[in-house]
Amino acid sequence: KPIAVLMGGLSAERDVSLRTGEAVLQSLKRLGYAAFAIDAGRDLPSRLTWQQASKVFIALHGRYGEDGTVQGLLEIMQLPYTGSGVLASSMAMDKVVTKKLLVYHNQPTPAFVECTAADLVQGPLAECPPLPVVVKPAREGSTIGISLVRKEEELQPALEEALRHDELVLVEQFIAGREVTVGVLDGEALPIIEVVPEGGFYDYQAKYTAGRTEYLLPAPLESELYANLQQAAVEVFNILGCSGAARIDFMIRDDKFFCLEANTIPGMTETSLLPKAAAAAGISFDQLVERILAGAGI
Ligand code: DAL
Ligand code: MG
Repeated sequence: KPIAVLMGGLSAERDVSLRTGEAVLQSLKRLGYAAFAIDAGRDLPSRLTWQQASKVFIALHGRYGEDGTVQGLLEIMQLPYTGSGVLASSMAMDKVVTKKLLVYHNQPTPAFVECTAADLVQGPLAECPPLPVVVKPAREGSTIGISLVRKEEELQPALEEALRHDELVLVEQFIAGREVTVGVLDGEALPIIEVVPEGGFYDYQAKYTAGRTEYLLPAPLESELYANLQQAAVEVFNILGCSGAARIDFMIRDDKFFCLEANTIPGMTETSLLPKAAAAAGISFDQLVERILAGAGI
């Protein structure tokens, strides 16, 4: 019975998803599965039915894929799918909801305020953390629509830019420090990666252009901090109720760490972090794909 690999889709991360999906599709074929690709558009339900998919590998990023909507559709169709379920997916997709949950569970996360277009009309944000801040669309990935704001006059344009991508925007204290990411596979932390982008900011170009970012794996951290970070990543995974693979991003300043977000469908492109972390744990790309597939359920 064939496995449908959902890729592409309707989000701003479409291009990244096509690369993740193609890598997953080739891997499934190498593993001997009958697998085919579906570009997950509005005709997704009929395509799944016609092509008699028996299981779905979701290789979508962002809206209508990573945010619980496709997961909900697959629940209705009674098709087993990879990764997190509806609620975990939608909570993790929304950085504001994620941060509120982290605060509730005493997990450190940078100070923040949320902002809508209506708040903008009323003037500058009253509760804005001191500059610099990072302005992010609440439900985007791959750094799309994100600005680092260092000066007062940059705030308004940054908010407007983020509001072009989502009606809800997160204004978050910028932690000047080191950026690390922790893959979690079936509830267990993988080796930690430190990302050192060429230009200092890990943006879309730095993420997906080979050679633009240096990766330190395992991250050269003091052993207690390393262990605490791995534990925090597993806790965040569990707080959100994730399944399968996820990647939790953190900033570190001195010996303190702050969780930024969780990604429930981490990129699996040639420059992506989860496959690198898995490889460092002795898990090949094909083994990673097979592990994620094995967790598929409804
Ligand atoms: N949002 C991208 C795909 C990632 O987290 O890897
Ligand atoms: Mg993300």
